[in-house]
Amino acid sequence: MKKINIFYILFFIVIIASLSYVGCSEVQDNLVEAPNIDSLHPPGWADTDSPNFHGQYIYDNKQWNLILCQNCHGSNYQGGTAGSSCLTCHTSSGGPQNCRLCHGGASGHSYPPKALNGETSVSYIGVGVHPNHLDSTQYSAEVPCGECHTPLEGGFSSPAHIGNDPDGIADINFGALANTVTTYDGGEFVPNPVWDRNTATCSNSYCHGYFKDGNLDAAPVWTNPESVKCGSCHGDPVTGNPNPIPNGNFFHPHFSNFTINTCYECHGLVINNAGVIIDKTKHVNGVVNFNSR
Ligand code: HEC
Ligand code: HEC
Ligand code: HEC
Ligand code: HEC
Ligand code: HEC
Ligand code: HEC
Repeated sequence: MKKINIFYILFFIVIIASLSYVGCSEVQDNLVEAPNIDSLHPPGWADTDSPNFHGQYIYDNKQWNLILCQNCHGSNYQGGTAGSSCLTCHTSSGGPQNCRLCHGGASGHSYPPKALNGETSVSYIGVGVHPNHLDSTQYSAEVPCGECHTPLEGGFSSPAHIGNDPDGIADINFGALANTVTTYDGGEFVPNPVWDRNTATCSNSYCHGYFKDGNLDAAPVWTNPESVKCGSCHGDPVTGNPNPIPNGNFFHPHFSNFTINTCYECHGLVINNAGVIIDKTKHVNGVVNFNSR
């Protein structure tokens, strides 16, 4: 009689434990002493509200390259030797490699807001002014990821992405635009764009002023959208008049009485008489567009 009771008790514990693992996480949380039919992963591993949630584990232990998980769940995440597929839950394209899973996402984009730690505030360095350079540009065309980060040839598994020993800090590596050389009769300006993480500033870039007649010392702050306005990159940063301030001994087409409403006279394809940039693809694009070009 006793033996049968113990058998039934054990039997029910196993049934409840396995059911709760597949389904209801609330039951699982209550089963403090559940028999360990799954010693691999802790309870709550599949529960977003649990401190043991696998997403949290991956973040805390910097396992973003997912190689650890692939060892048992298969390189295609379909189950592997674990016999448990990631794709049942991660149904978006690419499964757990989907570009909006670990960063972006909340915005429907692959880039922050929504940093790796979930932060969405512009003042957080992982967020900063991404949107201002991507979907809501004010001054220029969209700046591709590859102009600030090494382009990810091969996508998720590119060595330039997460790598074998990730620190969770994105690498900054400027592309062709920030390095645009401008020339004048007798010389040239060769930018040397630098990202300083301590001050969250970017300096010596073509885009933000390192060009002929530009504001060579401009250092916009990544976490402060107010640090860039008309006049920051060329002209007077205080008054906001964009009229370029001559900084060398060469030909200047600009007179000191020019204002934002004068520019259209020669740069009419870029800007109108109200001072509105009418073609963002022709501004901060590596060339000076004037007259009919
Ligand atoms: C040593 C092998 C092994 C490793 C490494 C491993 N898993 Fe598992 N995982 C398993 C096995 C086996 C199961 C099935 C256990 C069960 O359901 O009884 C499982 C189950 C899971 C489940 C539960 C599936 C469900 O439907 O509830 C998730 C989620 C999961 N693993 C995620 C991960 C993640 C994320 C990683 C990498 C951080 C990882 N696993 C690494 C072996 C492994
Ligand atoms: C039972 C459903 C389920 C299974 C199975 C599952 N996941 Fe998840 N996973 C989730 C949920 C839910 C989230 C949170 C998604 C979100 O925040 O948008 C998540 C988040 C993640 C994240 C994001 C971590 C971060 O930094 O935000 C990664 C990476 C991940 N899962 C990898 C895996 C891998 C690899 C497997 C298979 C080994 C797997 N998951 C299996 C439900 C699951
Ligand atoms: C104008 C330059 C610029 C562009 C364009 C840009 N980024 Fe970034 N990105 C940065 C800077 C600066 C950081 C912060 C680096 C640091 O923390 O030191 C960053 C950080 C990140 C991070 C890490 C977030 C975190 O939590 O720390 C991700 C992910 C990222 N960028 C993705 C992208 C993607 C995807 C694109 C293109 C869709 C993109 N970025 C375009 C400059 C840029
Ligand atoms: C499993 C989580 C995860 C997924 C999924 C993911 N990323 Fe990332 N991503 C990261 C991490 C972590 C970093 C910071 C890299 C580091 O530590 O150096 C990062 C950084 C980046 C950066 C900044 C440049 C760099 O490499 O440091 C870009 C751009 C980027 N990811 C694009 C993508 C794209 C495109 C996809 C989809 C193909 C993608 N990410 C999917 C975790 C992820
Ligand atoms: C009278 C015609 C004219 C007007 C008006 C004019 N520009 Fe220009 N601008 C030019 C020409 C021509 C160039 C190309 C000079 C060169 O290639 O050396 C130029 C070049 C520039 C450059 C590139 C840097 C440089 O000095 O070569 C900037 C920035 C610029 N203009 C901004 C402005 C702004 C802002 C206004 C209005 C405040 C303005 N311009 C009004 C003719 C004009
Ligand atoms: C992020 C830095 C930045 C800001 C902010 C900025 N500019 Fe420019 N601007 C540039 C660069 C870079 C050039 C091209 C200089 C070159 O190639 O020699 C340029 C060029 C110009 C030109 C010359 C035509 C051309 O080729 O685009 C005009 C006109 C101009 N800017 C007006 C403005 C006005 C008006 C504002 C404010 C609404 C403004 N700029 C804000 C960076 C900036």
